[in-house]
Amino acid sequence: MTRKILVTSALPYANGSIHLGHLVEYIQTDIWVRFQKMQGNECYYVCADDTHGTPVMLRAQKEGITPETLIARMHTEHLSDFTSFHISFDNYYSTNSNENRALSESVFKRLQSANLISIREVEQFYDPEKKMFLPDRFIKGECPKCHAKDQYGDSCEVCGSAYDPIELIEPRSAISGVEPVRKSSEHYFFRLSECSQFLRKYATEAHLQPEAAHKMDEWFEQGLKDWDISRDAPYFGFEIPGTHEKYFYVWLDAPIGYMASFMNLAKRISLDFGEYWGADAKNELYHFIGKDILYFHALFWPATLHYSGFRTPTRIFAHGFLTVDGEKMSKSRGTFITARSFLEHFNPETLRYYFATKLTNHIEDIDLNFDNFISRVNSDLVGKFINIASRTAGFIQKQFQGKLASTLDNPGLLETFSKAAPIISDAYEAREYSRAIREIMRLSDLANLYIDENKPWIMAKNTNEDKRLHEVLTVAINAFRLLTLYLKPVLPAMAEKIEAFLQIPPMGFKDCNTYLLDHTIAPYEHLLQRVEMENAEKLIKANRDNLTSTVSREIMPDKDISISIEDFQRIDLRVAQILSAEIVEGSDKLLRLILDIGESKKTVLSGIRTSYSPEKLTNRLVIMVNNLIPKKMRFGLSEGMVLTAGDTDIFLIAPDIGAKPGMKIH
Ligand code: 2FM
Ligand code: ZN
Repeated sequence: MTRKILVTSALPYANGSIHLGHLVEYIQTDIWVRFQKMQGNECYYVCADDTHGTPVMLRAQKEGITPETLIARMHTEHLSDFTSFHISFDNYYSTNSNENRALSESVFKRLQSANLISIREVEQFYDPEKKMFLPDRFIKGECPKCHAKDQYGDSCEVCGSAYDPIELIEPRSAISGVEPVRKSSEHYFFRLSECSQFLRKYATEAHLQPEAAHKMDEWFEQGLKDWDISRDAPYFGFEIPGTHEKYFYVWLDAPIGYMASFMNLAKRISLDFGEYWGADAKNELYHFIGKDILYFHALFWPATLHYSGFRTPTRIFAHGFLTVDGEKMSKSRGTFITARSFLEHFNPETLRYYFATKLTNHIEDIDLNFDNFISRVNSDLVGKFINIASRTAGFIQKQFQGKLASTLDNPGLLETFSKAAPIISDAYEAREYSRAIREIMRLSDLANLYIDENKPWIMAKNTNEDKRLHEVLTVAINAFRLLTLYLKPVLPAMAEKIEAFLQIPPMGFKDCNTYLLDHTIAPYEHLLQRVEMENAEKLIKANRDNLTSTVSREIMPDKDISISIEDFQRIDLRVAQILSAEIVEGSDKLLRLILDIGESKKTVLSGIRTSYSPEKLTNRLVIMVNNLIPKKMRFGLSEGMVLTAGDTDIFLIAPDIGAKPGMKIH
């Protein structure tokens, strides 16, 4: 039976570019959608730009344009990036649309009628100069716990504590720099606390991933809090009906944007909106999201839908974050890689393939390691998969005028390939792409082994073996065709080229039991270049340079500061010996060093992890600044600093042979 399925990915914010972290999700979703379509299911994939909120409003102001102009530009940019990575939306819309406004208003009114909206006074910081309430991220000040300066209104990056912006010492508006005042206003709340019973039931029915179910239990235990869904003017968003200058908080209308995008599609291609969103809709609805927005999708969203008379999602599929070379993506290291810059250095399908080799249905982070990326692409795709065609197709043209034989040398091998279809499709269905790829690569190995054993290049020299050669090549090309079918959800553009080469119509999973016999194929053209480390280095450099040009004022050393010899002598520099070095859990940069400085030992948290592995450091001599005021960091106290050179490639400074721990540096 044909299933009817609606799939979404989270709506990207309209105030930033698409980067590789985003692409994990869009590629994961796109593979699933393409797979469903290849299964013959009726599947629609909708998305949109998430356009509302303070950051979009302020960015537009800064650029001297209207928010509408900004979001139109971002929409074009985002869609072009997605299209380049072959993300096949059936509709890519905007939350700033008429459909979304109408749906958001109607959801709100229905929640109001269900007595689930309450109004309360809320006191917040207000910027008297900009005449606006300040979201937490737009307030800066001194941390009330560790007294670090210049911390955000909600949490401290130095000691890690979370607090209310009201607790900040000497708060400042990050927009105007003036001291904010406290001001109260009326806010609208969605009474989530009334929805616990329903949500507990939903959490069981939605078959959440184990990690998500666990999180939900934690949230239920803590008790659900009512949700503030309004913001005061000035705000870029939809005005709340029946109010003056109150707007829907961006997170209220963002998920409704899923419905709005589908509504827009439904109108265009005559689908029944109610069959997908009505309270009794039977069609399937899936949301792919990142783990950070589970609360919104597994609590707020089903409650919003249910109490406004719509269906709830069939399932919510959360994924982990992307790390690059084992670390959180970082702008200064150049690992915050934009989609666009990746395209300048690599074929987009190499990333789709690499992510597929890593993705499972668990909420675990996945790592982009460039050594691994290069070896997966070169050894799997070029060395195993494409190699099958590149070393057999030429003979078909030269010796057999492009025509395949009508009989097979080894039908058993192809049967093995056909029989793998259910294993591979089950893995795709379960979002176990890494398992699907392993099976496909196992088959590729079998095909290559078969070619190695038969050596068509030797047979081609011996005219007596023409018939067998023809049959062997036909097996190889058919094996290649089936592997292409299995990889097609991951490598759609390459599969299309291969379909043209094989002169066949677009393949679906139903074609896994048929073989090409007595069939003419086109001349083979090369499908994919090997990738090189040099390209990865250029990519990282480009992303680093991109950042440097925008913030160079802050990170360039200031050449104008001169100090006296007395100033210099105030710094107590010592030779120190590293007694032990270990990784600091939770930090991507720091190592914890225990240093011997003669008469005492000191602990230093040093940001050298990117360049030094801890086991190589024991016993090394370094230079330490011994009289720095100890700094209380989130990971503990650091009692000094070791000297290094360089910003990204870091080099420890060491004394000459013979120096002893504790010696003073003059
Ligand atoms: O986290 C984000 O980037 C949001 N823009 C996702 C919104 S998803 C949906 F709810 F609209
Ligand atoms: Zn702090």
